Amino acid sequence: MNTMIAPLKPAALQADFLPLEGTDYIEFYVGNAKQAAHFYKTAFGFKSLAYAGPETGIKDRASYAVRQNKLTFVFTTSLHGGNSIADHVYKHGDAVKVLALRVADAKKAWHETVIRGGKSYLEPLTLQDEYGEVVLSGIHTYGETVHLFVERKNYRGAFMPGYREWITPYNPTSTGLLYVDHCVGNVGWNQMNKWVKFYEDVMGFGNILTFDDKDISTEYSALMSKVMSSGNGFVKFPINEPAEGKKKSQVEEYLDFYGGEGCQHVALATNDIVDTVTQLQNRGIEFLKVPSTYYDDLLQRVGHIDEDLEPLKQLGILVDRDNEGYLLQIFTKPVEDRPTLFFEIIQRKGAKSFGKGNFKALFEAIEREQDLRGNL
Ligand code: FE2
Repeated sequence: MNTMIAPLKPAALQADFLPLEGTDYIEFYVGNAKQAAHFYKTAFGFKSLAYAGPETGIKDRASYAVRQNKLTFVFTTSLHGGNSIADHVYKHGDAVKVLALRVADAKKAWHETVIRGGKSYLEPLTLQDEYGEVVLSGIHTYGETVHLFVERKNYRGAFMPGYREWITPYNPTSTGLLYVDHCVGNVGWNQMNKWVKFYEDVMGFGNILTFDDKDISTEYSALMSKVMSSGNGFVKFPINEPAEGKKKSQVEEYLDFYGGEGCQHVALATNDIVDTVTQLQNRGIEFLKVPSTYYDDLLQRVGHIDEDLEPLKQLGILVDRDNEGYLLQIFTKPVEDRPTLFFEIIQRKGAKSFGKGNFKALFEAIEREQDLRGNL
């Protein structure tokens, strides 16, 4: 599959008014943060990092931060009904609330984005404790999702003020997950270009790839997608919208069950996808399966790969090639009862694209699941 990544315009790079250092953390609003943290530790191989709650002076919520290599997830639950966290969980189920981005200057990030039309979520706020200070600010993005800008260059504590280090003897071994490769947002009918413009105008991102409904359609359903990248390429946000098909698009099913726009999947990088996926499966994570015929002509499609075919076939790992190399990827089933958020595990071997050659096989696998739920 020949996929060309559009180079960002040099002018856009020079004028990067929002230099992002990467994903700082992802915060999930959930019904039970203690159990969610346990699930991500046990099944995905995260370790305990920090805790905030009544014992640390935070009265209305409990938050558990867990870490694996450069990945930090935070699970937050409300201790009462009738507030924004409880409402978010009621409306969306367990969901991604915050895609937090690391910056050198959170005050500047807020000013630069708000003067360009970003809707403020959090005015610059300095948090301090004995380990130093963290500056936070934030803006709204699609649905009820937000971006926080995190400046932590003057902080030496476990996570951030308000949290204390979470020390526990229970820390399962890593599954080899390294960092966030990309986070995908599902938006409503005809809303993709609005959000593309938001990332261009407000955050200085560029559109590096576009997939139309001819790229991403099966016999039954379709979607369209544009990949937005920060100027330096460290942060990538593909945006999907549903497209008309004979049956209900997977994006539509998501919107129905999520109760609006939100984060569809987070792609987590590994350097050894066979080992990572073997461990995840052994720990109970369920993945989408493509038919075994997918592997019959795989090597003719993608050319030489370093990996043995048999373990890829056993595990259901997909392969795609672009002009710069190839990638291996696999998708979990939704990780909660609503058919909403799932994860992608990805290993890049030169390729900078997103697996366009796998879309058809993958989306047919998703449709089989949709059909089982009665939502196709
Ligand atoms: Fe993805």
